[in-house]
Amino acid sequence: MSTLALRGGAPVRRAPFPVWPVYDEDDLKRVCAVVESRNWGGFPFPNRVAGEFARDFAYYHGAAYGLAVANGTVALQVALQSIDLRFGDEVIVPAYTWDGTAAAVLFAGGVPVFVDVREDTLCLDVERVEAAVTPRTRALLPVHLAMRFADMDALGSIAQRHHLAVIEDCAHVHGGAWKGHGAGSMGDLGCFSLQSSKLMTAGEGGVIITSRLDRFELAQSYTNCGRATATDRFGRRVVGSNFRITELQAALLVGQLGRLHRQNERRARSAARLTAGLRRIPNIEPLPPDPRITREAIYNYVFRYRPEHSTVSRDLFVAALDAEGIPCDGRFYEPVYKSALFPATPREFPQLGTLDYSQVQCPVAERLAYEESVWIPQFLLLGDAGDVDDILTAVEKVATHLDELGSAAAGVKSLSRAERPRVEKDRQY
Ligand SMILES: Cc1ncc(COP(=O)(O)O)c(C=O)c1O
Repeated sequence: MSTLALRGGAPVRRAPFPVWPVYDEDDLKRVCAVVESRNWGGFPFPNRVAGEFARDFAYYHGAAYGLAVANGTVALQVALQSIDLRFGDEVIVPAYTWDGTAAAVLFAGGVPVFVDVREDTLCLDVERVEAAVTPRTRALLPVHLAMRFADMDALGSIAQRHHLAVIEDCAHVHGGAWKGHGAGSMGDLGCFSLQSSKLMTAGEGGVIITSRLDRFELAQSYTNCGRATATDRFGRRVVGSNFRITELQAALLVGQLGRLHRQNERRARSAARLTAGLRRIPNIEPLPPDPRITREAIYNYVFRYRPEHSTVSRDLFVAALDAEGIPCDGRFYEPVYKSALFPATPREFPQLGTLDYSQVQCPVAERLAYEESVWIPQFLLLGDAGDVDDILTAVEKVATHLDELGSAAAGVKSLSRAERPRVEKDRQY
């Protein structure tokens, strides 16, 4: 095979991958209709298009109620407020996730407690969850990460035993299902992000789904400045904020939801071909299949880089793969307690008390984040088999040229983990 692109060889792929996000004439018409209506905002609440979209979104995921909000972070914050999280309550979150999962807990007055993840699913390690439960624990906040689900059966029974609420962070799994149950419908509430890189997007946005009317009423009040809801069965009055989504965003989301099923099927087909091909490539380990997932949703396709006899780092492997024309990432997420975007101390968040996140250690999350995981964004899987074969050719080229890559990098001092700068991530996806 030819010289690595990182060393000046020809890249495997020069053609662009499918564009993201996707829109068509109908989307333009729906947005224009909202513009012409002069009814652009989130008020009256829920507004017409946003209300219909949220209802359809909830129905598709098997929940009774849906509420569209400004983004995924406030979706989580509102969901936590809606279970009556109180100042200082602990919420168990996975260490390996986007910082916003844990930040939402802080914003709601809670204390995020980080628990390690499993290397085969990237999701919460349920064996460690029970050990992390204390008398102050109020909720579990599993994240269905990248292309897998947390074990909702095991989490459900832990929650039942300890009287905890469960909030699903579904920012990566729009349309996915686990054992026949839609994402977000298994816990008390499910929260989705509609930010640009997600499987559905309006540029920004979020959705909360639930089948509990008491939670739904509270979530609406917290989103709409504390106002009473149309049903107001429970009559709770709260101090709320304005977290409403706009009608302009909702107009885009109607088409996004309409395309979701077909796009998820396409990505699942591509992922199956990719997994079969990766199994044959040395130094690469795809995640094992999980038959409990009955409808796949692949936000990023993640595989593990596990070189047997090479010291070439994952970061260098990713740089070489990227140079071959395959957009990809290694440090997509860091363990949140190590992230530059999570400088949480008791000074800003007094509920943390004496908690010192610098003492936290989650070895699996750290290994995945810094040494093994390779993230390929979802839109690469929206094309045809030829696209997948190019990804495979590029992965094979780099994975079988580690000696060449290693000697090219020799002389460049590699930093130990402690020496690495804490950088803010600026990648879009
Ligand atoms: C796992 C996870 N949780 C929460 C969020 C927060 O969503 P948003 O960016 O819409 O606020 C994101 C989005 O980046 C995410 O990936």
